Amino acid sequence: GVQNNQKNANQPAATGQKRPRNDAGNKVTVVLGAQWGDEGKGKVVDLLATEADIVCRCQGGNNAGHTVVVDGKEYDFHLLPSGIINPKSISLIGNGVVIHLPGLFEEGDKNDKKGLKGWEKRLIVSDRAHLVFDFHQVVDGLQETERQAQEGKNIGTTKKGIGPAYSSKASRTGLRVCDLLGDFKDFSTRFKNLVQQYQSMYPSLTVDVEDQLKKLKEFAERLRPMVRDGVYYMYEALHGPPKKILVEGANAALLDIDFGTYPFVTSSNCTVGGACTGLGIPPMNIGDVFGVAKAYTTRVGIGAFPTEQLNAIGELLQTRGHEVGVTTGRKRRCGWLDLVIVRYAHMINGFTAIALTKLDILDVLDEIKVGVAYKLNGKRIPHFPANMDVLQKVEVEYETFPGWKTDTSAARKWNDLPVKAQNYIRFIENHIGVPIKWVGVGKSRECMIQMF
Ligand code: GDP
Ligand code: IMO
Ligand code: MG
Repeated sequence: GVQNNQKNANQPAATGQKRPRNDAGNKVTVVLGAQWGDEGKGKVVDLLATEADIVCRCQGGNNAGHTVVVDGKEYDFHLLPSGIINPKSISLIGNGVVIHLPGLFEEGDKNDKKGLKGWEKRLIVSDRAHLVFDFHQVVDGLQETERQAQEGKNIGTTKKGIGPAYSSKASRTGLRVCDLLGDFKDFSTRFKNLVQQYQSMYPSLTVDVEDQLKKLKEFAERLRPMVRDGVYYMYEALHGPPKKILVEGANAALLDIDFGTYPFVTSSNCTVGGACTGLGIPPMNIGDVFGVAKAYTTRVGIGAFPTEQLNAIGELLQTRGHEVGVTTGRKRRCGWLDLVIVRYAHMINGFTAIALTKLDILDVLDEIKVGVAYKLNGKRIPHFPANMDVLQKVEVEYETFPGWKTDTSAARKWNDLPVKAQNYIRFIENHIGVPIKWVGVGKSRECMIQMF
């Protein structure tokens, strides 16, 4: 009986007895932002998507704004994976994403008009993904007003309802795609309850419940053909014939709810763990993890930014880099490349390689600085501070490089780059301790120098 079983537990299987083989399956390639967002993730994904079978989003919502330029045409994506451009690949919105349905269809229709035909047939949506309702977006705005009144500052969110929707999810009152597609009477009841909860917190919130439900019912039918069990879909994709699967990160490491500059962050995990939890895939199926970093630093919204340049340098980076938010149209704050944060992002994500974008923006500078360490009271600190008051106080130690003062936008290979630019790139690579696989010198697909 029991004793016998225990005795045999550690012995090799008897000859002829078949044990299930653990077939590891295909690996997914993950593309993640290594700074405060807008590093050019969309462009890197687009580059890899030309060969991908499936391109997935695993977290965030339409707070993301990814610009991709193909054949002179500019596309903006917010909820749709950038891989939707590729007519041969499937795009998947995973369970970790929060979906605002009016936003999703508006985005699809807008791109349809630009020539992106048949996107609805190439999109798969996880039935476990949570929904962002219009009132979540209104509440996002109300919370910002409240923060401003209470603390004299807000977060500067995108007002896409991201924080409130993830709050509903965490407090277990949220509604998912599977609920919308299930019994509509049940859905309506839970929707009304959720509205009531928010109204008790925000008495000024008015919601036309019947009108909302009518619209949601219409969206449900348009969405239905795209919805799958995301876990099973990914399982089949990982264990079927060889497939190239790509995960497109949204937002970035320093905006991560756990590791970012809290509370000035977004509400999801934008680091590598989000790929597993947001798609329902095992860690052993994670392959390459590519970090995307700009050759300088930008940030949208409020919060500490040690290498920020509130001077002519910052303005030059802003104008030359066209640093304006894709989602909100706000000017992005600009500063020197901060390698402390990129290294911190690497500690969390374990990048296998880096894409360094927008090198061309630095072409005109006489001198280029790179933040290499933070000091507190004159002493270097080895970690990235959790406390924002501390981060506000750090003194940045810089390394200074001579500018190359040469137009790099036509460079297509390493040898086309000026030696001074090569030195800048090599320094970054060595300091982070991760190889740089691509260097971006322009907006379009071909403006990406591949190093290996
Ligand atoms: P994402 O949110 O990380 O996908 O990045 P965004 O699309 O918000 O912002 C990056 C911007 O830089 C986009 O407008 C891109 O077209 C542009 N871009 C990306 N790579 C390069 C590059 O190497 N050089 C230049 N000049 N622009 C680039
Ligand atoms: P992509 O994917 C830059 C910032 C907002 C704000 C904070 C919280 O294009 O890199 P939220 O609306 O998420 O509650 O806002 O996070 N933020 C981004 N900044 N790029 C993004 O995405 C961002 N997503 C959120 O500006 O400071
Ligand atoms: Mg962006």
